[in-house]
Amino acid sequence: MSASEDLEDLPGVGPATAEKLKENGFDSYQGIAVASPGELSNTADIGESSAADIINAARDAADIGGFETGATVLERREQIGKLTWGVDEVDDLLGGGVETQSITEVYGEFGAGKSQVTHQLAVNVQLPAEHGGLEGSAIFIDSEDTFRPERIEQMVEGQDDEVLEDTMELHGVAEEGEADATDEAMFDALVESVLDKIHVAKAFNSNHQILLAEKAQEIASETQEEEFPVRLLAVDSLTAHFRAEYVGRGELAERQQKLNKHLHDLMRVGDLNNTAVVVTNQVASNPDSFFGDPTQPIGGNILGHTSTFRIYLRKSKGDKRIVKLVDAPNLPDGEGVMRVEEGGLMNE
Ligand SMILES: Nc1ncnc2c1ncn2[C@@H]1O[C@H](COP(=O)(O)OP(=O)(O)OP(=O)(O)O)[C@@H](O)[C@H]1O
Ligand SMILES: [Mg+2]
Repeated sequence: MSASEDLEDLPGVGPATAEKLKENGFDSYQGIAVASPGELSNTADIGESSAADIINAARDAADIGGFETGATVLERREQIGKLTWGVDEVDDLLGGGVETQSITEVYGEFGAGKSQVTHQLAVNVQLPAEHGGLEGSAIFIDSEDTFRPERIEQMVEGQDDEVLEDTMELHGVAEEGEADATDEAMFDALVESVLDKIHVAKAFNSNHQILLAEKAQEIASETQEEEFPVRLLAVDSLTAHFRAEYVGRGELAERQQKLNKHLHDLMRVGDLNNTAVVVTNQVASNPDSFFGDPTQPIGGNILGHTSTFRIYLRKSKGDKRIVKLVDAPNLPDGEGVMRVEEGGLMNE
């Protein structure tokens, strides 16, 4: 049983019942979820309707989903959107941009530009579709206190005039045909509108971060019928708190378990709301044995299997950055180059 699975969290399960369940091998949510009410009722000396309640709660918690038809899966996949980085080489590398309904992991050493990427995507997600945006809003879970509204403003300013003007119309800060990229009042109104569409929450520790991901699901689903539905969930950084809090070797398993749950929650937000999930991850700067290979992202295998797209950012000369796609499904590995400038991520 994982540490997060306390049987006493199930409705009507006290210490005695929990003990009986465990003695009889019902020691995980998953095991209980697939039991029959009769079986459970006999095992734990409880009524069948209480047993049914317990099973239902365990099913929800274990997230043993039902089956869906191939047609439903296809329909959902047809909704997948691609969010531009605003960098041609990177968009090409990704087959159009960051995908919704997927987790994209951006990893690299300090100063590589991971936080720049999350800021840029929070702006780009709000652009008109014809400019590579998703006409949506963003949720930004900030665990390192890196979110800077000033940076967002610079990245709005860094857009081409045509993009800026079409975005002004999309955001309703200018009438159709009236938008003017050089109009200060319009520009200010656009910046305000863009900032308004980024829901930022600071995560104070890993447990708080996990809670925020659950909260993100609520916010994202609430917005789906509105204008600018949530189309991006960024977590910057995914791993910093986990890394700082679970330091001993003995805590590695628990850390991975929690990270795994967290990623699962994030994936759910992506799947259920057609949202792109972008997480950042550090690489260890010193090759200590705990974190292993310094060029490998923190989090080990679990993260490797969950993130569908993995992007390795590497510093190059000056503002130049190498963007490398690593182990993506259905896409060849490859590299692109970008610059991190005052106006944001730019073509080389
Ligand atoms: N306003 C700006 N104008 C130009 N370049 C900037 C600006 N702000 C940040 N940068 C560039 O971005 C770099 C910082 O990148 P960023 O903060 O995204 O790194 P990171 O990968 O998130 O690092 P960490 O692991 O420390 O969080 C700076 O070193 C600088 O090169
Ligand atoms: Mg950062």
